[in-house]
Amino acid sequence: AIERTFSILKPDATRRNLTGKINAKFEEAGLRIVASRRLQLSRAQAETFYGAHSARGFFQDLVAFMISGPVVVQVLEGENAIARNREIMGATNPANADAGTIRKEFAESIEANSVHGSDSPEAAAAEIAYFFAGTDIVG
Ligand code: CMP
Repeated sequence: AIERTFSILKPDATRRNLTGKINAKFEEAGLRIVASRRLQLSRAQAETFYGAHSARGFFQDLVAFMISGPVVVQVLEGENAIARNREIMGATNPANADAGTIRKEFAESIEANSVHGSDSPEAAAAEIAYFFAGTDIVG
């Protein structure tokens, strides 16, 4: 089915001017960027967005990294978009990511791993709604 998923191009990607190369990966894989906005996350926004990880040892470092520079928040649309995007991104830890994936090609570390993508339909709906109004998304 045609789905929508939520994507973030993280501060390590914006810092190295990689947004075009990463967007090309999405488009080459058949995902359409139907909404996109560059912004600076506040600490409160980052803590809320990653709230599911608040008990993890890496949480404070993750929040600090996510507010260390601009991000690009996006909605990607396409056939099976949630799983497809996770394939294109590759494993969370770039050391474990398959050849050709975004994280294998671009990520610096498990923290500075260039992209975030929703891991379920429920997460996709919640994450999209956190950053975008329905009228911002043009399919
Ligand atoms: P993301 O998909 O954005 O979701 C949570 C993020 O936490 C993850 O990508 C990683 O960038 C980051 N992170 C940092 N350290 C770890 C870790 N040890 N295990 C999992 N995720 C981590």
